[in-house]
Amino acid sequence: MSTIGIIGAGNIGRAIARAFARKGIATTLSNSRGPESLTTAVADIGRLVTAGTREEAAAKDIVFVAVNWSKLPAALAGLPPFGGRIVVDANNPIEAPLFKPAELGGRASSEVFADLVPGARVVKAFNHLLSELLAADPTTDGGKRVLFYSGDDAGAKTAIGALIEQLGFFGIDLGSLAIGGRLTQFPGGPLPALNLVKFD
Ligand SMILES: NC(=O)c1ccc[n+]([C@@H]2O[C@H](COP(=O)([O-])OP(=O)(O)OC[C@H]3O[C@@H](n4cnc5c(N)ncnc54)[C@H](OP(=O)(O)O)[C@@H]3O)[C@@H](O)[C@H]2O)c1
Repeated sequence: MSTIGIIGAGNIGRAIARAFARKGIATTLSNSRGPESLTTAVADIGRLVTAGTREEAAAKDIVFVAVNWSKLPAALAGLPPFGGRIVVDANNPIEAPLFKPAELGGRASSEVFADLVPGARVVKAFNHLLSELLAADPTTDGGKRVLFYSGDDAGAKTAIGALIEQLGFFGIDLGSLAIGGRLTQFPGGPLPALNLVKFD
């Protein structure tokens, strides 16, 4: 089983940790202020979550990043090379309080994100739902809540697709970062905040 690190311990980072804990999978959760600041969050999620440093989280096999858009450069600066490991971009290019869309130079936000994690195989996922829904039990109304994923590396997408299923969601591969990433990107894409459920 791959080890899982999470950079960003806000609404989305904690929702991801909760989804893994529900299935008995351990994660290392980190923020900018250090592990001591995460005592309450970790106790709330349960024993499978460990508070770590940003560097500890970034050293895991699969690294989720859920940080405010403007803070991503600082959150990802100075980390050791990713060396082909998978990094999941759960971010959107907009943030409170102004909610002004970030300037992306015509690229998908995940393509911009990928420049911040050189050597990583980037998959965009876990970014289209509001955090409350992402944290909730994905088995709902007799079906499975849908999560989208997209990326430019087929192997990385296969791995994240399998992980999404393991967490109890129904994964849908949307293609490349440029195409699929844009579909789930907020603002701009048609899919953000859609709570879709797959029935057999
Ligand atoms: N909220 C949603 O429903 C939602 C839905 C879909 C996608 N998203 C996207 O998910 C991302 C996170 O959103 P959120 O709502 O979880 O934000 P949030 O609650 O404000 O949490 C942001 C987290 O990023 C951490 N962070 C900031 N700078 C950092 C650094 N230099 N190093 C390490 N960690 C750092 C913060 O840690 P400190 O507090 O210690 O600084 C905090 O734990 C955003 O890109 C957002 O667009 C959010």
